[in-house]
Amino acid sequence: MQSIELLNPAEVFQEVLDDLSISSRVVVQDLFSDHRLRMGETDLKRLFAILVSNAIKFHPKRTPHIIAKAQALDAATWQLEVTDDGDGIPKEMRHLIFMPMSKVVSRDKEEGAGMGLAILKKILRTYGGGVIVDTAESGQGTTFTLTLPVLAVQSEESISV
Ligand SMILES: Nc1ncnc2c1ncn2[C@@H]1O[C@H](COP(=O)(O)OP(=O)(O)OP(=O)(O)O)[C@@H](O)[C@H]1O
Ligand SMILES: [Mg+2]
Repeated sequence: MQSIELLNPAEVFQEVLDDLSISSRVVVQDLFSDHRLRMGETDLKRLFAILVSNAIKFHPKRTPHIIAKAQALDAATWQLEVTDDGDGIPKEMRHLIFMPMSKVVSRDKEEGAGMGLAILKKILRTYGGGVIVDTAESGQGTTFTLTLPVLAVQSEESISV
């Protein structure tokens, strides 16, 4: 079973980029180093990997510019936004993408089982979090906004788990 840890999201995000060997194509902004998420490391890595791999796969040249931002919305809620400059998702398809095995028609030729975002949503639900998706009016680029319960502490020693 996965143990619940206090995680630095910036570090975990960087590990995922390193694992995918794509750091040079990714811009990371505002990932708070003084906030800790209380969750399983495997789960957090999976969330990031699903979003980053989609940003690559659904970009016409597979060279996305990705911006990841983290902020505390309030004392109880932590928000992560991952934005890419890829294909975008048509408004009328957005409600489908979190369902297992659902894919946007125009990119059906892309490999994949259509499971990534269904898994992402399930993981977030486990922690009492959620996700919404938005595409810019131009139809280009996608932003996934994740919310998770926040545990803001300055050091791991000050917490009893
Ligand atoms: N960043 C994105 N930009 C554009 N479209 C996206 C993006 N992320 C997801 N989508 C659309 O949502 C669909 C569902 O995504 P999901 O990750 O669940 O499946 P997949 O990537 O097709 O397959 P798998 O994740 O199982 O390899 C995708 O097929 C794609 O059409
Ligand atoms: Mg995917």
